[in-house]
Amino acid sequence: MCPSWWLWPLVAVCAADVYREEAERIMQDTPVIDGHNDLPWQLLTKFNNRLQDEAANLTTLASTHTNIPKLRAGLVGGQFWSAYVPCDTQNKDAVRRTLEQMDVVHRMCEMYPETFLCVTSSAGIRQAFQEGRVASLIGVEGGHSIDSSLGVLRVLYRLGMRYLTLTHSCNTPWADNWLVDTGSDEAQSQGLSEFGQRVLREMNRLGVMVDLAHVSVATMKAALQLSTAPVIFSHSSAYSLCAHRRNVPDDVLLLVNETGSLVMVNFYNDYVSCSRTANLSQVADHLDYIKKVAGAGAVGFGGDFDGVTRLPTGLEDVSKYPDLIAELLRRNWTEAEVRGALAENLLRVFEAVEQVSNSTQAAEEEPIPLEQLGTSCRMQYGYSDAPTLRRQPGALLASLAPLIFSLRLL
Ligand SMILES: *[C@@H]1O[C@H](CO)[C@@H](O)[C@H](O)[C@H]1NC(C)=O
Ligand SMILES: *[C@@H]1O[C@H](CO)[C@@H](O)[C@H](O)[C@H]1NC(C)=O
Ligand SMILES: *[C@@H]1O[C@H](CO)[C@@H](O)[C@H](O)[C@H]1NC(C)=O
Ligand SMILES: *[C@@H]1O[C@H](CO)[C@@H](O)[C@H](O)[C@H]1NC(C)=O
Ligand SMILES: *[C@@H]1O[C@H](CO)[C@@H](O)[C@H](O)[C@H]1NC(C)=O
Ligand SMILES: [Zn+2]
Repeated sequence: MCPSWWLWPLVAVCAADVYREEAERIMQDTPVIDGHNDLPWQLLTKFNNRLQDEAANLTTLASTHTNIPKLRAGLVGGQFWSAYVPCDTQNKDAVRRTLEQMDVVHRMCEMYPETFLCVTSSAGIRQAFQEGRVASLIGVEGGHSIDSSLGVLRVLYRLGMRYLTLTHSCNTPWADNWLVDTGSDEAQSQGLSEFGQRVLREMNRLGVMVDLAHVSVATMKAALQLSTAPVIFSHSSAYSLCAHRRNVPDDVLLLVNETGSLVMVNFYNDYVSCSRTANLSQVADHLDYIKKVAGAGAVGFGGDFDGVTRLPTGLEDVSKYPDLIAELLRRNWTEAEVRGALAENLLRVFEAVEQVSNSTQAAEEEPIPLEQLGTSCRMQYGYSDAPTLRRQPGALLASLAPLIFSLRLL
């Protein structure tokens, strides 16, 4: 018999709880690995990276989307912490500030060892899962952080960088960003320049995941074509559902499928609904869509928590992941598909990247051509065609001319 009408709401609530309980059961052994979280940027802007400031205590911190109790409630088992420095550091203090954001992640792991385990490999993630700690990895957001230097790229790898987003929202001298597709920036590299291709090859050789969030469509296609390992979009959604250039268009989703790559869905309202408001169900629509077009193996989560100002109703902070998983189960995702989206797809990609890496292969050594490097704040050591006192006195004089001119202006 049907329950009488006044029981219906109760039945609905119970059904919802079944999915929520199922989500939690699955997440107990396959917790979520999120592709992008900007807590380190919050620690810089709120506390100037002073973790010992009482107000910066990660157990009680309340003004952020992320803190330790919220990570626990959200069954977050892995996090790529973003070492993000804004585009206005390009050609200035980008490298120094990137190092500082990497340092604050390492210090987070040291200060809260019962919660975080800093790791640099897929095996490390699995170990953290076993120990019930949050596997903590570093993603560097923006190619400007390497200052057009293969040497800096390699050292950042040694310091724990395991993905590099090829651009943030600005071109680098070697890769174009998404604003090129809106017409507000000019195409400079038509995707990846020759040096950009060397950067990508070196990332493959080292075992750094190539992240295509924030890049232009031409850069996406160039990287998907060139990379010998699958790539990720650490925090991007589906362009067909919200026509924002930060999202991934269908033809690229097909390449994602063919290459076994991964799109980790961004929760920022503006990328989910193309408006200032959104809800959890609309985020699930993006997950459904990417699953339909690119395959269940191509879906992940990259919430962009603490990097955005507007989040969907129902996904206000990192504690809400189980509610999103419950929604996918309600939409008939299988347990295997859910485990894939939670962690196994990322682990598959990461393992493939580790497999492709090869430290006995010769390193990329050819520097960016001098004329492509903004040189106003840099010395030109190492460029044999640069003017030097000994070799090219004429050229030296020529290079001094502007200086002499500017001295006269003083
Ligand atoms: C943070 O606050 C908690 C709860 O008050 C306290 O137990 C813990 O020792 C503090 N942690 C640090 C690193 O200060
Ligand atoms: C989510 O937002 C969409 C679009 O505004 C709306 O149609 C839908 O009913 C909302 N879903 C929930 C569960 O609130
Ligand atoms: C790519 O699509 C094929 C065919 O639909 C599917 O079998 C495969 O699992 C997809 N790949 C991924 C990574 O999901
Ligand atoms: C899920 O599967 C059930 C049983 O096959 C079906 O009745 C229901 O319509 C499906 N729901 C969705 C959202 O596809
Ligand atoms: C690694 O690179 C070296 C040198 O190019 C090559 O001989 C070797 O086969 C490569 N190893 C793998 C596993 O690809
Ligand atoms: Zn971003």
